[in-house]
Parts: sequence; structure tokens; C-alpha cells
Amino acid sequence: MNSSGRRGNSHARNASLGDVLPALGEMFLDKAPTSTSATSTNKASTTTATTSSTSTKDGSTTSTTTKTTTTILTKGILVTSGSGVIGYRVAMSLLEAGYAPEKVRVGIYNSSQDRADEGCALQCAQALREKGAEVVDFDWTNCEDFDAALRGVSLVVCTIPHIQGWQDVFPKFVRKCMYKNVQHFVKISCLKPITGSTTSSGSGSPTNNASNNITTNNKTTAHLPNTLSQLAQLYRERVPYCSFHGQVDDYLMSVARQNNNGHPMTYTILGCSHLMTEPLFVQGKFLRQPPHVFATASYGMGVNYVSPNDVADAALVVILQSQQDDPVVAQQHRHQIYNITGPGPTTDAHVASLLSQALGGVDVQHLSLGYNEYVQHLTQQLHLPAWHVQHCAAMERMKATGAEELATSYTRDYYRLTGKEPQSFRDFLLSKTHPTCMRPGMAFGPKETERDMEEKKE
Ligand SMILES: NC(=O)c1ccc[n+]([C@@H]2O[C@H](COP(=O)([O-])OP(=O)(O)OC[C@H]3O[C@@H](n4cnc5c(N)ncnc54)[C@H](OP(=O)(O)O)[C@@H]3O)[C@@H](O)[C@H]2O)c1
Repeated sequence: MNSSGRRGNSHARNASLGDVLPALGEMFLDKAPTSTSATSTNKASTTTATTSSTSTKDGSTTSTTTKTTTTILTKGILVTSGSGVIGYRVAMSLLEAGYAPEKVRVGIYNSSQDRADEGCALQCAQALREKGAEVVDFDWTNCEDFDAALRGVSLVVCTIPHIQGWQDVFPKFVRKCMYKNVQHFVKISCLKPITGSTTSSGSGSPTNNASNNITTNNKTTAHLPNTLSQLAQLYRERVPYCSFHGQVDDYLMSVARQNNNGHPMTYTILGCSHLMTEPLFVQGKFLRQPPHVFATASYGMGVNYVSPNDVADAALVVILQSQQDDPVVAQQHRHQIYNITGPGPTTDAHVASLLSQALGGVDVQHLSLGYNEYVQHLTQQLHLPAWHVQHCAAMERMKATGAEELATSYTRDYYRLTGKEPQSFRDFLLSKTHPTCMRPGMAFGPKETERDMEEKKE
């Protein structure tokens, strides 16, 4: 594996964990387990300021902060898709939080390839290695990679792309995790219907206690799903990608419930709505270069965009709390599903105006198309393959229902996990504390555009 490459990238998130995760407070930053102590004992005593949020019957939340001394077990972690939006953020956040780097293994697809296209595997691998993580090649389609990737690993953070043959490889991977005694499996997914025993609230009620400040349109909504579970179910039925995740999750949950000869594996599934990176990837070139258009078929409806930073932060809380020696804290996320949603509906026209600002004056036009025109646009202008067009078009159809304008499409799960409000699209694109609005190594904002130009001159 080639670890050399271009100059180290500066795309790591520079926000400290204390800033982004009040729920964990000073657990890791101020009294982080040093590499040395973690190596010798795999434990670290820390003072933890934990803000716990309790939901009351009226949907409001009360918070209490307690200080306790606890022991965090730094067990081996594997993060898959380390060059992906979420995978990279989770791995980098763990390292920046002071997690023993030698315990962090990151699987990256083609980690030694410096590709000219939008892939950024080499840059990600380089940045993670600089922080001390072990980077290994990880190809979902090559089961031989699983053994090495899972050696000594207790916890897996899994993002899986929709790849051909996933029906074979994902079950093999999960079974291998069980065989290797992986204790906990954290999976990123699409929005999930909530059933009785697997809710984040544990009460069997849906997790759709949206915050009171979500502004929604006053439209006739009788035809729309009126719970998040119903919405998630519609996504699963109508959008191929969500159906894929649903099936993958079903498999994980069914296998994890089996006892496997006394080696149970627990899971946490983090369902999420539309990642804010989605429009940037699919139409990235057309946004940054002429014709500078952002095409959608959402018919003016507000969309539930969620920040990948929030999803990664939620994952981080789950990972770190799952490893505390206090069994109550450690077990609270076992066999749980959380739905991480955005701050409220954001129209695509508003996204286009934010993109214009992020690009430093370029006027990104919002092209509001009909469904068939949208399909034509993706096929003929963006030259996307048929499966991708089908996925995007199905997503637009869901956006166009207007269901995401309803407060019931939003949960408080992110707040409950982190004590923070969801990040807005504006902050995601323009915030100085989270400079990377796309995948690491990729540029979007003016600052990054300048850096790109410098790199080209070299
Ligand atoms: N986008 C959304 O709106 C959305 C919404 C809900 C849930 N999700 C789910 O959330 C998860 C994380 O999303 P994300 O945006 O972080 O994904 P992403 O950025 O698209 O990352 C996918 C990663 O998988 C890698 N990959 C591709 N083929 C592979 C293979 N054969 N073996 C191993 N790795 C391979 C990609 O590498 P290359 O880049 O080098 O190809 C990339 O690093 C995914 O499971 C996604 O389905 C996404």
C-alpha cells in the first residue's frame, strides 16, 4: 500500500469535540487518553461532563449536567468507507477527540489511488495516517479484505455504498464480524421506520418529536404521511437506495438478535434524511462551472436536508458512550435506531442561493424542472447512468410530496444524543468551524477554490 502522496491535506475538521459535542463535554479533549496510556492499559480514567436530555410528555426536553469519573475502554474500531463523507468525518473526529490512534483502523476503497476524478482516497488515507490511524484497503466486493480489517476490532462503524452483489457481500461481512467477536455494529442508513423494541426513546413511540421552532407550510396534508415512520416506509418502498438500506439493516438486525454461541453482537442504526452533500456531488460540476445551475424536481417543497457533520457527531457519541465502563451508559445505544434529521425544511431555491454565496459571487441558478424534464437533464446533461437517474428521480418525487414540510418529518434524536441543535445548510456551507463542506480533498467554497488553483499552478 502506497502511503506517499501529495502534500498533506488540510481538510480535517478543525472544530474541537468540546465545541461540537457538549453531550460528551470534556470526556476526551481535556483528559484524553494518551496513546501511551491507552496502549499499556487500553483504559483511561476521565472526568466526564454529561448532559442528559429527558423528553417530557408534552414533547419538551429537560437537560441535566452531571460530572462523573469514568473509564473509557479504548477498543479497536474499524471505520469502513474512510473516504466517504460520513466515514471520513467519523474517523477524523475520533482521532481529533484523542481516541488512541493505534486503535483506529480505517478501511478505504483504493486507498493508494490518486484519482483525477472526484475520488479522494489517497488524500483521505494520507490525512488519517498523519493522525496515527491505520489505513487498510477495503473493498466490499473482496471478502478477503474483511479478515485483516477486522483483526482486533470490537466496534465497527459501517457505511456501505450501493454496489452490485451487495446481497452476498454484506451478509458475509456481518457474519465475519460475529465470528471475529465484534461487539457493536454502528450502521449509517436512510430514515428508518421505528418499531416497538428498537426506538431511540425506548417507549415504542415514533421519534418524531420535532422541535417547536420548525417552520412548516400551512398546506393541506391529509394525503401525507403523518409520522416519521410512515415517511420512512414510503422512502423504503419508493426509492431503490432506501430499499437497499432497509434490506441491509433487516439482515443486520436479524443476525444480531441471534446469540451466536454466546457472542452476541449489538447494533445501533443511524438513519438520516437527505445529506447536504447530496446536491453537491450529483451536480457538483454544473454548480461550480458553467452553466452554474442546480436542477431539481422538488416543486418548491421544503426538503429535510441534514448535515453530514451532525450525522458524524451522532455516530461519535454512540461510539464513545458505547465504550464507557458504566454499563448503563454503555448499553443505552444497543439495538437502537436513531433518525438524524435536519433543522427544518429547506427549499432547493434557498440551497441554490446558499451555493452562490459559498462560491463567492457565482450566481447559481435554481432550475426548477418537472419530473420528466429532470430525468432528461440528468441523463442528457449530466450523463448519469440509468440506475443513478432512477435513484435521484425517486428522491425528487419524495421531496415533491411536501411531506418534509411537516414537523412530523423531523426528530429530536440528534439533540438527545449530542445536546446540540441540527446544523443549518447555511452553516454547513459557510461555517468556518467546519471548513470541509464536501468530501475531504474536494473543493467547494471560495477558499478551497483558491487552494485548488494554487495546486494547479504547482
Ligand atoms: N447521500 C444521502 O443523502 C444519504 C442519505 C441517507 C443515507 N445515506 C447513506 O449514508 C452512508 C454514508 O454516505 P456517504 O455520503 O458518506 O457515502 P459516500 O460519501 O458516497 O461514500 C461512499 C464510499 O464508499 C466507497 N466505495 C465505493 N465502492 C466501494 C467498494 N466496492 N468497496 C468499498 N468502498 C467503496 C466510496 O469510495 P470512492 O469515492 O473512492 O468510490 C466512498 O468512499 C451510505 O451508506 C449512504 O447510502 C446517504
